[in-house]
Amino acid sequence: MAFIIVEKREFVALLTINKPEGLNALDTAVLKELSDTLDALEKDRDLRVLIVTGAGDRAFVAGADIAEMADLTREEAVSFARAGHVTMNKLSSFPVPTIAAVNGYALGGGFELALACDLIIASEKARFAFPETGLGITPGFGGTQRLARLAGSMVACDLIFTGRRLNAEQALALGIVAEIAKPESLLERAFEIANNIAEKAPVAIRNAKRAIYEGLCVTLSDGLAIETEQFSRCFDTDDQRNAMRAFVNKEKAPPFQGR
Ligand code: COA
Repeated sequence: MAFIIVEKREFVALLTINKPEGLNALDTAVLKELSDTLDALEKDRDLRVLIVTGAGDRAFVAGADIAEMADLTREEAVSFARAGHVTMNKLSSFPVPTIAAVNGYALGGGFELALACDLIIASEKARFAFPETGLGITPGFGGTQRLARLAGSMVACDLIFTGRRLNAEQALALGIVAEIAKPESLLERAFEIANNIAEKAPVAIRNAKRAIYEGLCVTLSDGLAIETEQFSRCFDTDDQRNAMRAFVNKEKAPPFQGR
């Protein structure tokens, strides 16, 4: 059985974690399939946006698989965390924008999966939490790092120390969620946002993503150098020339080609 389903609609791919009977929990097999799928999708030069969601109407992903973790030794825990990091890093460094469409529980590793995406769109039924400290562990798939970078260290301390659950409105107020949608229109809204992004110049979008994330890890002046590099690279594209000349000539620009 496939744990990951991919459906492509023109320039946008929908990736579904498909283990609904276990609330899409991430075990080694699911993580491996997710990782291999991201490798394959990264080679798709037509792809402009990736949406990630969970199968069923209850969970996005209810965490890393607790049954699999229960008897790990410390050395095995290192390998498990590294496998999680490899997969989450593939998502966070995915060359085109990624949108997590959070349809239900996003707990532990599920919250971390959403945090590895560029945008989080939440259904009114979404619930976010880090229950790990109540299970005797810390988040291990990037949660301590990505939540603190996104929402600040105090929010990370609050959510990780207490394990308290956030609903979609609370997550929106903390800047963790970009937008809330009705459960029945979550995917439609995610596709609307994705299609809007897909209409923009693909090279500019990829370069902007690199500048934003690479700049977060360095000083402001080094970040501005990264921005200059990514900005200037856009001037090697037909898309930039065509769009700007069309504007200057008051003409309609041709659709972007990604070069
Ligand atoms: N790891 C392994 N299995 C999980 C899981 C996880 N993180 N989350 C859910 N499941 C499994 C349950 O064991 C159950 O399997 P079963 O039908 O074989 O017994 C199935 O998914 C349905 O979950 P269940 O607990 O029966 O549903 P519920 O509605 O009573 O509760 C949750 C839903 C999400 C509140 C509850 O499943 C839960 O707390 N999950 C763990 C969340 C967590 O701590 N995640 C972080 C892990 S570090």
